[in-house]
Amino acid sequence: MDQLRFDGRVAVVTGAGGGLGKAYALLLGSRGAKVVVNDLGSGRDGSGKSNFADAVVKEIKDKGGVAVADYNSVVEGEKIIKTAIDNFGRIDILINNAGILRDKSFTKMSEQDWDLIHAVHLKGAFKTTHAAWETFRKQKYGRIIMTSSNAGLFGNFGQANYSAAKLGLVGLANTLALEGAKYNIKVNTIVPTAASRLTEDILPPEMFQAMKPELIAPVVAYMVHESFEDSGAVIDSTLGFATKTHLVRSNGAPLKKKPSDEVTIESVKESWSKVVNMNGAKHLQKIADVTLDLVDKLQEFEERSKLDSERDSYWTTYAYNAKD
Ligand code: NAI
Repeated sequence: MDQLRFDGRVAVVTGAGGGLGKAYALLLGSRGAKVVVNDLGSGRDGSGKSNFADAVVKEIKDKGGVAVADYNSVVEGEKIIKTAIDNFGRIDILINNAGILRDKSFTKMSEQDWDLIHAVHLKGAFKTTHAAWETFRKQKYGRIIMTSSNAGLFGNFGQANYSAAKLGLVGLANTLALEGAKYNIKVNTIVPTAASRLTEDILPPEMFQAMKPELIAPVVAYMVHESFEDSGAVIDSTLGFATKTHLVRSNGAPLKKKPSDEVTIESVKESWSKVVNMNGAKHLQKIADVTLDLVDKLQEFEERSKLDSERDSYWTTYAYNAKD
């Protein structure tokens, strides 16, 4: 296969001074993209500031690539996008990757722990994406990555703030994938698991060694390539493996026996095992499908109830006539 390249493309990678973002920036830089290496250079908990984006820029340039450092916080995302426009005149790719942790059990979590995590992960991604969106629309081209986490998809003890923000990013991507469709803006989500300062005290040492960010970078790079057609996908990757995750919905059940019946707490309880039975669960692609699916089910229920009542009345009449 021909090498997939990014010549002429400008990529912004947030939080690219270390960890996963650094691996993304180095790979894109080595394949011809001009890269804005953004990093506030904060500690793992969001405190402090330093210029460690510089080392990544140097590494890209040493290998013959083109890159510029940006030290703004994603909370001021418009400044990061301005760095791309000011230096390279355009933006084609935005990888929302910057992140911090403020892990605490919910009892001990302060409002500040909640707000800071939401500011960096969710609002940060909003700010950068919003600042780039108009350019993407006008040029009818854009590739956006949101970074979620299994903590968001499945929950994780001590990460209520982080889980909420990370699943929020999936919701953001879902809607932007729809709004961007006719402008060739593809918005996808990566769910990485990799060795970095965020995971050094969480992953067992032997796994930590194996979970190199460089194994995830090609997945993300493919997802921001011009040949990539998917939008709204949630892709989980680690250890040189990738999977897709999506929500499925059970076939559900009517909460009453006949259309004329009332829905009561008891009738809900009676139907519950059918409501939550996931056999034959379906993936619905868009919100219109959710409504259509419900309308179909209601119609089916009403028709079945009508047939049941016609059959009952037939048997009642038959039984009555037979008695005669
Ligand atoms: P990391 O700590 O090595 O990299 C995150 C970078 O973001 C740091 O260099 C930090 O200085 C920068 N940053 C923090 N706040 C910023 C701000 N306000 N503005 C700009 N830059 C800022 O961590 P890692 O693991 O590479 O994380 C990258 C992303 O992947 C994060 O969003 C994280 O939540 C996510 N993630 C990582 C997982 C893993 O296994 N490493 C698992 C699931 C998600």
